[in-house]
Amino acid sequence: MASLFSSVKVGALALSHRVVLAPMTRLRTIQPGDIPSPMMADFYGQRASDGGLEIIEGVSISILARSYLGAAAFYHDNQMEGWKAIANAIHAKGGFVFMQLIHGGRQSHVDMTGGVDPVAPSVVPFEGVALTEDGFVPVSPHRALDIEEIAGVIEEFRVAARRALEAGFDGVELHGANGYLVDEFIQDGTNKRTDAYGGPIENRARFLREAVEALISVWGPDRVGVRISPSGEWGGISDSNPEATFSYVAKVLDAYKIAYLHVIEPRVKGDYTLHEGHPPVAVKYLRPHFTGPIIAAGGFDGDSAQAVVASGDADLVAFGRHFSSNPDLPYRLKHKLPLTPYVRAAFWGGDHRHYSDFPTYDGRLNA
Ligand SMILES: Cc1cc2nc3c(=O)[nH]c(=O)nc-3n(C[C@H](O)[C@H](O)[C@H](O)COP(=O)(O)O)c2cc1C
Repeated sequence: MASLFSSVKVGALALSHRVVLAPMTRLRTIQPGDIPSPMMADFYGQRASDGGLEIIEGVSISILARSYLGAAAFYHDNQMEGWKAIANAIHAKGGFVFMQLIHGGRQSHVDMTGGVDPVAPSVVPFEGVALTEDGFVPVSPHRALDIEEIAGVIEEFRVAARRALEAGFDGVELHGANGYLVDEFIQDGTNKRTDAYGGPIENRARFLREAVEALISVWGPDRVGVRISPSGEWGGISDSNPEATFSYVAKVLDAYKIAYLHVIEPRVKGDYTLHEGHPPVAVKYLRPHFTGPIIAAGGFDGDSAQAVVASGDADLVAFGRHFSSNPDLPYRLKHKLPLTPYVRAAFWGGDHRHYSDFPTYDGRLNA
């Protein structure tokens, strides 16, 4: 029976435990220019552990890919030094780090995209928000990507992956979850295309496949992960048959022999509060379709994480909110120590307070 605290091989990485830092957009880059801040290097360095894996918050691959003012991005060489400092802070403690690459798709606003309409597979209006200098605002109307434009977006994923390699990261994760561009192509509530990228799931998965192939062309399959959120509600996303859709996606990804499949459980609601009392379900039906490591995420505590790993439905568990306020979360879970409560008011934007000032259990700040 596998334990949360046993070693595991994830693609090219040999991890010493299975408690992963989930990607969390905390809106603390330096503006203007989306420059990764020293505060971010503190945050990620504090959460590093010997042989542990951290996944960096969604990093926009282009200006058009941006959704939230202050969010992470890597579309310009000016951002390189900041990302190198973050990778170094994690490596200094023997940790590993993957960078999550995101295109925001229709979840954006013209003030974030450089004045042009946000893009999506199809025009499907929805009620969502972007974050601009005016605060959280309703998203702008979007337009459908022309088929001729798609190769250019895929190329932006490749270039960002290349930059992550140069910055010293250990791999990249494609953000295929939470109603952003990749997910919008996968799910039929947002993909109404009638060309080779729409219609049956074989076509709706084409954009995903091309993006994965672009990342693999830079990193090789054993340093590429993909995150999905079957039944996720964030961003007004929906599918008529999530189980069939995502089982197909898992099979497709399995064939690439990628490092891992990262699955957000549907029990987390759009606003990151919990549907109480739901056991993990997605990993259960995806497990037969994906032979590599599965990372489960969404509403876990130490006991439920241990249970899902022991069941074999998942191999690792990513923690978001608890990791935000417990830099030594793996240690605390291992020794069943009390957790410091997280501070929701500081999730999206602010300074170091309730961000990089949470001490370890034994009271150290930069242990
Ligand atoms: C502040 C915040 C920011 C988040 N940003 C991202 C993100 O950038 N990319 C992503 O895939 N998920 C993001 N998530 C989702 C988390 O990775 C995770 O799936 C979710 O918080 C549920 O896990 P938890 O119950 O352990 O917090 C975010 C969640 C929170 C709370």
